[in-house]
Amino acid sequence: MHTLSMAELEQQRILKTAIPGPRSLELMARKTGAVARGVGTTMPVFAVEAGGGVVVDVDGNSLIDFGSGIAVTTIGNSAPRVVAAVQDQVELFTHTCFMITPYEGYVAVCEKLNELTPGDHEKRSALFNSGAEAVENSVKIARYYTKKQAVVAFDHAYHGRTNLAMALTAKSMPYKHGFGPFAPEVYRAPLSYPYRDDKLMDGELAARRATDLIDKHVGPANLAAVIIEPIQGEGGFIVPADGFLAALAGWCRSNDVVFIADEIQTGFARTGAMFASELFDVVPDLIVTAKGIAGGLPLAAVTGRTDIMDAAHVGGLGGTYGGNPVACAASLAAIETIKAENLVARASEIERIMLHRLHRMQSEDNRIGDVRGRGAMIAVELVQRDTSDPDPAFTNAVAAAARENGVIVLTCGTYGNVLRFLPPLSMSDELLNDGLDVMADAFAAT
Ligand SMILES: Cc1ncc(COP(=O)(O)O)c(C=O)c1O
Repeated sequence: MHTLSMAELEQQRILKTAIPGPRSLELMARKTGAVARGVGTTMPVFAVEAGGGVVVDVDGNSLIDFGSGIAVTTIGNSAPRVVAAVQDQVELFTHTCFMITPYEGYVAVCEKLNELTPGDHEKRSALFNSGAEAVENSVKIARYYTKKQAVVAFDHAYHGRTNLAMALTAKSMPYKHGFGPFAPEVYRAPLSYPYRDDKLMDGELAARRATDLIDKHVGPANLAAVIIEPIQGEGGFIVPADGFLAALAGWCRSNDVVFIADEIQTGFARTGAMFASELFDVVPDLIVTAKGIAGGLPLAAVTGRTDIMDAAHVGGLGGTYGGNPVACAASLAAIETIKAENLVARASEIERIMLHRLHRMQSEDNRIGDVRGRGAMIAVELVQRDTSDPDPAFTNAVAAAARENGVIVLTCGTYGNVLRFLPPLSMSDELLNDGLDVMADAFAAT
């Protein structure tokens, strides 16, 4: 067995060249000549090493990671337990296909998911490769169980880029534009969006607005599932009003509709709870996970009530690589790391630090319309001065200024006007504060 060795990467923002540097520029030219144009990059710097809270590029620049590879390396990049577990597993075997000759790691990950996800009812899990694939399977399972077809997703939703997942996703550009036709029997309902809703629209009213529309346009007799991100990710880190998710889940229960929580971005300690559903006192029928599940290796899962999960016939679910043994070993190590390093509490600490700093920036700059989020999933929504009109140009300019100064920061939101912060939970307070200083300077200079 490998012993744990601590990452020795210097935990500091270090700029040795302009961003991007000359080696990154050379590689970008090669990318343009070799990689399909549709695969974009947020920041044109090429990584060589990462860990703690930094990503080091080919020019020797050390960048503060406020992205975690889109909420994946929650426990830190190349976390020691994950590295050791992967190395051990790779030496034993890399693949047999769980559907041909199974192995213990897959079963152990399912046991962990059944234990850790909300609700103490009996559960089963199935493993897949990507978030989108798991989303598709959650809908397959719900349809099989209910013998119904329609699915409701929400305004601002993002569920992935495969065909059914694209249909569930709300935003056209860049995710859906030109890629139709999309899967049928997908309907859209209004979300609770406290910053943009009428101030009198509390969570229960917003849920009623959605379920009234579902009643009229779809009808529960046709509806297999409602799928929702407890806190929306790509849609703008939208935290619904209190009571919204619980009322929605209650309506599903009363109408024989499977309530699916897409916790692909919010899961595994990211929001200051193991799963964000816990923050809203909701126990989903099915919960879809990926991203933070395996410390950077590709793995995804659907977990839920045994009667629903076991409905489909033998052979109806699966895939060649789903629950790959190396990814399963990484997942068990990642879950152990969350526990051993008390990372759920660390996410709450990061929330406190970030909200304090960002609220202060908001009090000095009324282009910061809203500060929101939970745990290490925090965002600011940027607007034209003295209005709530979205300002995507300002958002892109602030992001560009921060990136030039060595901070990897992502944008999101239906209107492209949200800066989102997803630091790994392994980031030090010093690095976090340095990254926030860079953000404050970027606001001041833009
Ligand atoms: C909430 C949510 N669902 C689904 C997906 C799709 O996951 P993947 O990119 O692994 O297919 C994402 C990815 O960003 C996501 O944030």
